[in-house]
Amino acid sequence: LREKYLALISAAADEAALEELRVQAVGKKGEISLQMRSLGKMSPEERQVAGPALNALKDEVNSALTARKFSMADAALEERLKSEWLDVTLPGRQRPVGTIHPISQVWEEVTAIFADMGFSVAEGPQIETDWYNFDALNMPGHHPARAEMDTFYTHRAEGDDRPPHVLRTHTSPVQIRSMEKMGAPMRVICPGRVYRADYDQTHTPMFHQVEGLALDTDISMANLKWCLEEFVKAFFEVDDVELRFRASHFPFTEPSAEVDIRCSWADGQLKVGEGDDWLEILGSGMVHPKVLAAGGIDASKYQGFAFGMGIDRIAMLKYGIPDLRAFFDSDLRWLRHYGFAA
Ligand code: PHE
Repeated sequence: LREKYLALISAAADEAALEELRVQAVGKKGEISLQMRSLGKMSPEERQVAGPALNALKDEVNSALTARKFSMADAALEERLKSEWLDVTLPGRQRPVGTIHPISQVWEEVTAIFADMGFSVAEGPQIETDWYNFDALNMPGHHPARAEMDTFYTHRAEGDDRPPHVLRTHTSPVQIRSMEKMGAPMRVICPGRVYRADYDQTHTPMFHQVEGLALDTDISMANLKWCLEEFVKAFFEVDDVELRFRASHFPFTEPSAEVDIRCSWADGQLKVGEGDDWLEILGSGMVHPKVLAAGGIDASKYQGFAFGMGIDRIAMLKYGIPDLRAFFDSDLRWLRHYGFAA
């Protein structure tokens, strides 16, 4: 019996087989238990020999069962450790690192340069009322400039005859909002997204502008010129620039000027500050008295300059990018080609 059970136990394949063996040997009706029950029918002499022998056998089988059970658990753990083995000497996996989009970079650079000149930053909503986007900027009801702006209008429910909201067509409405909030004197720049229904190599329906506004009791075009020169030098990292102020017209400035910078194109490389080409970068002028009034500013005491510059446009110039649309394609290959992504 002893040899039989010890051999079976050490050959058992799993815990279920062990349990079966336990029942078969030392369970209530197990082979060893039955023999122990028959001790009663033996003579005292026989019992004295068989009793301790059977008890010892029972103990031995029980501890063999327990030992085998532990060794099975150990083996299982060994297996698991083998399969979950971790090679701490492997080199780490490279994960791509995100980068700042070129438009965001330029946005931040422009903000920083004007901050150095004492301009604070203001922002306004991208969905505007037509009061802020047009009327307050001296473009009443049927002003032709409204039609020229390729405006996106929001839809109003039938019977709702309030004027529709618009996606702002420029950052100039933030001029009015800033006047209302801060009064005069003040210096702000307002970077942000603007929208016009237009699409070609140099136009996308969403683009970016930065508005500048300076109000005080003694401000002239000369201040505007100085600020813009300082900005262009800092932004394009050149010591000298030449700006050209071309007389123009905007309903919200009088006089108005569009500003070009002297540059050259050679081998697709743009050089700012030299050459015979001129590139337009912004619209500007002295804030129209009606606009000051709409913003609640006393036009007999304060005057100021304003400008609106295309952020995307100066980004294209700085990095020599011919197609504006590529900025918004999210094509990693393009971003890498221009060094904007790792
Ligand atoms: N808002 C004008 C535009 O989008 C630019 C501009 C701003 C012109 C401020 C003059 C003064 O074209």
